[in-house]
Amino acid sequence: MDFEKNILCIGAGYVGGPTMVMIASKCPRYRVVVVDINQEKIRDWNSDNLPIYEPGLDDLVKKTRDKNLFFSTDIEKGIKEADIIFVSVNTPTKTFGQGAGKAADLQYWERTARQILANADSSKIIVEKSTLPVRTAKAMERILNGSPKEISLEVVSNPEFLAEGTAINDLENPDRVLIGSRETPEGMRARKEIVEIYAHWVTRDRIIESNVWSAELSKLTANAFLAQRISSINSISALCEKTEADIDEVAYAVGTDSRIGPYFLKASVGFGGSCFKKDILNLVYICQNYGLEEVADYWESVVKINEWQERRFINNMLSNMFDTVAGKRVALFGFAFKANTGDTRESPAIYIARGLVEEYAQVVISDPRALENARKDLKDLKERVTFEMDPYKAAEGTHSIAILTEWELYKDLDYERIHESMVRPAFIFDGRNILDHKRLFEMGFNVFAIGKAPLKHF
Ligand SMILES: NC(=O)c1ccc[n+]([C@@H]2O[C@H](COP(=O)([O-])OP(=O)(O)OC[C@H]3O[C@@H](n4cnc5c(N)ncnc54)[C@H](O)[C@@H]3O)[C@@H](O)[C@H]2O)c1
Repeated sequence: MDFEKNILCIGAGYVGGPTMVMIASKCPRYRVVVVDINQEKIRDWNSDNLPIYEPGLDDLVKKTRDKNLFFSTDIEKGIKEADIIFVSVNTPTKTFGQGAGKAADLQYWERTARQILANADSSKIIVEKSTLPVRTAKAMERILNGSPKEISLEVVSNPEFLAEGTAINDLENPDRVLIGSRETPEGMRARKEIVEIYAHWVTRDRIIESNVWSAELSKLTANAFLAQRISSINSISALCEKTEADIDEVAYAVGTDSRIGPYFLKASVGFGGSCFKKDILNLVYICQNYGLEEVADYWESVVKINEWQERRFINNMLSNMFDTVAGKRVALFGFAFKANTGDTRESPAIYIARGLVEEYAQVVISDPRALENARKDLKDLKERVTFEMDPYKAAEGTHSIAILTEWELYKDLDYERIHESMVRPAFIFDGRNILDHKRLFEMGFNVFAIGKAPLKHF
């Protein structure tokens, strides 16, 4: 079969994989190839055991793989054959040198740009899918245009707004698709080509066009706003605990104001995920670079409140368990940073587990999808931490359970049975406010939830 277009995606991670699966499924006349330097990941994408868990992903992969969707490690061949190259490599926070701890580490991106330059022998559109600092496209264009070859490599920004756990639905029914390009004739032509891809399934009013800098900055800003809402409600949760106001009631009352809206107002142990913290710190760094100290401080406080909320959770466990957890078995229900994913990057559970181990607790971790990643995250803690898929077994002989991920399954467990198997007094710390606290209290548990008055028997 002759395909109309050859699309390549460099980076087969949480974004590159699902995004290309969706494009392949909606555009059967396009050939979509996804490449990665990680051979194991590509092997898994080509197997029945995909490297990431996302509801609905397996079915779509089965429908498209080896028809118009291909996973490969041959990056050079992929570059040569492609008309359009999406770059979806990781852009973590820099851990060294200037900007360490805040700036985005662009080494993977730059390496990819140089690889494209070295292997491209025809004109191509390069699409920034990764989240990048505003004005990165300029730097990329400088690298890409450093070629003596008579080809053009036009950079377009198309940041991804999917959320893990709902990626397939988000990709299929996006609130918006954002496509930014230079406003030159070449830039506008490239923009049109990317719009055409999405127009296969996204209505035109949801495809937003902008200049390239606006597109880059909008992604960072959207994540900063989302995280800010969580830190705002979490800050108020602390005040609720002091005043007997109930955070869920406050959030409901606040969120029904149509100017505010109900989303992202759920108080919790804190936000995690690979993006919020790194993107805000990146925004902070950019502001500092432009001499905007007040703006930088404003956004940095969103991250500080999050770290404080995680610390508060541990302190709350400690003070209520008679100021010591040394030698006590403590179960963590959930390790993924949110439900419906196995991703544990920046999960509050990592911080909580480490904090409890520092206090000499014996920590048992349970999660339906994230135990493999949890083992990697905590590998240095060795015998201080154990892993148990079955929550009933995990709870046996523990003094307390902390709910750290809002998995549905934790709502429906037989807590009478769990209570029977625990040491008394038994404690539950609900870091996601998903359980029926009154019922648990009546069963005999001492219950501590975020932003609520404690329910305790002593
Ligand atoms: N995870 C999310 O929910 C999400 C949502 C929106 C945007 N983003 C952004 O998308 C980008 C990718 O995020 P992710 O979560 O998919 O990361 P990821 O770590 O899951 O995937 C990145 C992949 O790129 C590969 N890679 C790195 N350098 C490469 C190279 N030179 N050649 C080929 N492959 C290379 C890595 O091996 C890895 O598999 C980041 O910039 C992130 O901020 C992520």
